[in-house]
Amino acid sequence: MANEVKTIGVLTSGGDAPGMNAAIRAVVRTAINKGLKVKGIMRGYAGLLQEEIIDMDSRSVSNIIYHGGTILYTARCLEFKEPEVQQTAADICRKHGIDGIVVIGGDGSFRGAGKLAALGINTIGVPGTIDLDIACTDYTIGFDTAVNTAMEAIDKVRDTSTSHERCSIIEVMGRNAGYIALWCGIANGAEDILLPERYNGDEQALINRIIANRKSGKKHNIIINAEGIGHSSSMARRIEAATGIETRATILGYMQRGGTPTCKDRVYASIMGAKAVELLADGKSNRLVAYKHGEFVDFDIQEALQMKKDIPEDQYAIAQLLSK
Ligand code: ADP
Ligand code: F6P
Repeated sequence: MANEVKTIGVLTSGGDAPGMNAAIRAVVRTAINKGLKVKGIMRGYAGLLQEEIIDMDSRSVSNIIYHGGTILYTARCLEFKEPEVQQTAADICRKHGIDGIVVIGGDGSFRGAGKLAALGINTIGVPGTIDLDIACTDYTIGFDTAVNTAMEAIDKVRDTSTSHERCSIIEVMGRNAGYIALWCGIANGAEDILLPERYNGDEQALINRIIANRKSGKKHNIIINAEGIGHSSSMARRIEAATGIETRATILGYMQRGGTPTCKDRVYASIMGAKAVELLADGKSNRLVAYKHGEFVDFDIQEALQMKKDIPEDQYAIAQLLSK
């Protein structure tokens, strides 16, 4: 059991994700409802070290639930991996009377959160990343919006691909994780999905499938390529040369990280933000809020970071089967 918390801080860290604002709003209002004070820490751990700390009340989070991005801004702060820097951060928290922190971010941010918890600052993590790559949870804030944004964009590329009877390689985000690619592959009815977790680099096999698809009467050939594999433009040139089929590359990029959060992202982020504060108010620390098997739960941070997650093989197989 950790110490009683009177003032909490909230920060967003790592890549932003639509729905983070809903989580911030929920943290602030749940805390105020429980009689706690709330301080917003700007620009993640970098802002904490710079003491960019603001008082927040219920009105500080008015009109933000429907905006993408994060009103607290976000940053990557490599020096936060150093133990002495973490100690400085914990000292800064104490100086500002912050005895609990909600960290909204991804795996990297949670490693930092675990360090703060070990230094006596009660810390709770909330999973925020469009990549869905946090092992302990079936939901991360922003994935639903990102995947819907990508799906709509890919539909548009599909129209023109069909009209011109072209092959299209569409690159979606996911440096290490192929969840956006997998979901778009199914939702957009792609002929092929290249996932960082699965792609073996066999471009000839890909080319053979494109030729077979054309022979079977397919007008277009949509290939969803995850950012972690990349090289979409050069791949398109090689495919065109090998197949004789006009091939274009489209890189969707950062548009997937912005925009109005979906209903699901607003609702789940709100629930997770509120749960994080409930954990702090109950004297808990070093926990991550998660959504598993249809329920909101929480895990020890170090145990959660040890967990492994992989693309569900059955879903990948279904995506391949349906593309025939
Ligand atoms: P994400 O949280 O989305 O995974 P990053 O991996 O970039 O994004 O991590 C965000 C920030 O978390 C880093 O810039 C750094 O400040 C902090 N962080 C990452 N790894 C560690 C670590 N091992 N120890 C302490 N802090 C870390
Ligand atoms: O937020 C996750 C993510 O979009 C990854 O898919 C991507 O690899 C990474 O962030 C890129 O982030 P940045 O370019 O901001 O470092």
